[in-house]
Amino acid sequence: MNLTKLLRKKPLEAYHDDIKTSQLKRTLGKWELTAIGVGAVIGGGIFVLTGVAANQYAGPALALSFILAGIGCLLAAFCYAEFAGILPVSGSAYAYSYGTIGEFFAWFIGWNLILEYMMGATTVAVSWSKYFVKLLQLAGITNLPFWLTNDPVTAKEEALKLGISPPSFSINLPAALIVWVVTYILVRGIKESAKANNIIVAIKVAAVLFVIVAGIAYINPANWQPFIPEKTIDATGVSHFGISGVLTAAGIVFFAFIGFDAVSTQSQEAVNPTRDIPFAIVTSLIICTTLYILVSLTLTGMTKYSEIDLGAPVASAFGSVGLRWASLLITIAAVIGLISVMLVMLLSQTRIFLNMAKDGLLPQKPFGVIHSRFKTPWKSTILLGFISSIVAALTPIEKATKMTSIGTLFAFAMICIAVLVLRFKQPNLHRPFKVKNLPIIAGLGFAFNLFLMFSLDQATWLRLLIWSLIGISIYFLYSAKNSKLNKVE
Ligand code: ALA
Repeated sequence: MNLTKLLRKKPLEAYHDDIKTSQLKRTLGKWELTAIGVGAVIGGGIFVLTGVAANQYAGPALALSFILAGIGCLLAAFCYAEFAGILPVSGSAYAYSYGTIGEFFAWFIGWNLILEYMMGATTVAVSWSKYFVKLLQLAGITNLPFWLTNDPVTAKEEALKLGISPPSFSINLPAALIVWVVTYILVRGIKESAKANNIIVAIKVAAVLFVIVAGIAYINPANWQPFIPEKTIDATGVSHFGISGVLTAAGIVFFAFIGFDAVSTQSQEAVNPTRDIPFAIVTSLIICTTLYILVSLTLTGMTKYSEIDLGAPVASAFGSVGLRWASLLITIAAVIGLISVMLVMLLSQTRIFLNMAKDGLLPQKPFGVIHSRFKTPWKSTILLGFISSIVAALTPIEKATKMTSIGTLFAFAMICIAVLVLRFKQPNLHRPFKVKNLPIIAGLGFAFNLFLMFSLDQATWLRLLIWSLIGISIYFLYSAKNSKLNKVE
């Protein structure tokens, strides 16, 4: 294997052939795509992770953490949007880097996108399970055995807290089951999925707006003091609060922004991809960033940061000011709303697999098989549902969150570089969406996302290394040999 092979690129004309031969139906308009973006973005990050981020790291300055993470994402979003305009195909960062940097990097980015989409969906399934359990509790069902609603590690920790002996077997059953519900919807088809998604997104955005509007009256400005609590270091050496705490929280709430790029994976199902995909990427991200800043200010204004609930912080904030009905409404909306995040993430993952299978980097069966009636990649959807449900049943949320974040940050950093490379190598290419001052935007995007990667712990880096080694092995053992470009050569 020589360097030339590793750097071989898929010709841009080949992408246009892919577009022409795509069997997927074009049904998505500009606002449906934006809804897909918002649907993919608002989820476990704002409904669950805000709790730990404010309570333990940023305090009321959580809003600043959202701004920092939002800046990193917005910089990457502009780069995504330029690419999405040039290559309106459904392979996201994978496809873009295959056309620009080369096959090996494309594979590597595609491999990391599995962390973003599959692990992302898994993390949200676990978040969903938390709100589902809260909903049951609000409905008076409080006697569910915790070994049925927690992964083995969390169940053990719960048992220790309760002073009972740990269960010998434990599984997060709601998380596994919800993955199967989503898988079923996806196998049935994109049109139905888009309709269901629009309704769910409307409920979710309504809930977030409700939190902001209804919460304002309950804000006590004294809760915002001090805005950045003084830095402390706990017994295990972990630092909390202060400027470094705000940065750590930015790394955590970064998860809340993941998903805007999922819009780009829908290109082959978009009616007018070159115009609408860049619009939807940037618009959905701006909408979500604004909502997040307002929700975090409301949340930390309603409840003292040290008293914010870690499980279901947004719903609990309303319970703590005596509005039990509002808490119930938000819990119901979260239970419904988180489904759309899983829907889009798993959908995007299957579309990336489809592209990789078309290029020969993954086996055609099952990844490239399209259902004759539903026109969906049903076999890979079912396989993905199977794996995701097992991981969701057995993995603690913070491990899944961090793996999702590191894989995504890496993909974002690479895409910033890739778009810049393409600008220099093919300056005259038609770019329906052209980023102004690209070297600055892409350079900052690369640096910012790398910086956020370094806010994650060593264990997460180690897992990324192992994951990468597995990916690289598969590339050399299978993908490099079966690549369509290899056969052409
Ligand atoms: N941004 C998505 C969420 O917060 C992944 O759930």
